[in-house]
Amino acid sequence: MAIYNIIKKEDPHLREKSKPVKAITSNITKLVKNMLETMYDASGVGLAAPQVGVLKRVIVIDVGEGNIALINPEIIEASGEETDTEGCLSCPGLLGEVSRNAKVKVKAIDIEGKEVVIEGEGLLARALQHEIDHLDGIVFLDKAKNIRKQD
Ligand code: NI
Repeated sequence: MAIYNIIKKEDPHLREKSKPVKAITSNITKLVKNMLETMYDASGVGLAAPQVGVLKRVIVIDVGEGNIALINPEIIEASGEETDTEGCLSCPGLLGEVSRNAKVKVKAIDIEGKEVVIEGEGLLARALQHEIDHLDGIVFLDKAKNIRKQD
């Protein structure tokens, strides 16, 4: 286990498109475990592999209902709209209001290589969209209004 360094918004890696994972190797398993450890250490609710400098389509999330690790996640259904406050471990101290779909359905593979479909609303839907954006080089500040420093 290891805690990775989380890269910050100025790092060009955060602007690149991550590549799909072709097979669940021991390297991917290790990546997921270390990403979870890194996320918990930083008290975040989500983390995407590019945030630790790895340009692979892997995300981890825990919105308080246990951890989720998704490989090659894809939004297959989205509905509704909700605006709420967001932050990002790569943008420490910054908050902004982001409008996102209120509900999403995401298809992915899990750490065992099985296809899974996750449905989320509220914070989980938001976290899924935020983390999947990272895989496409999008940072929440690109979409946020009223960007401000955290008190
Ligand atoms: Ni983020």
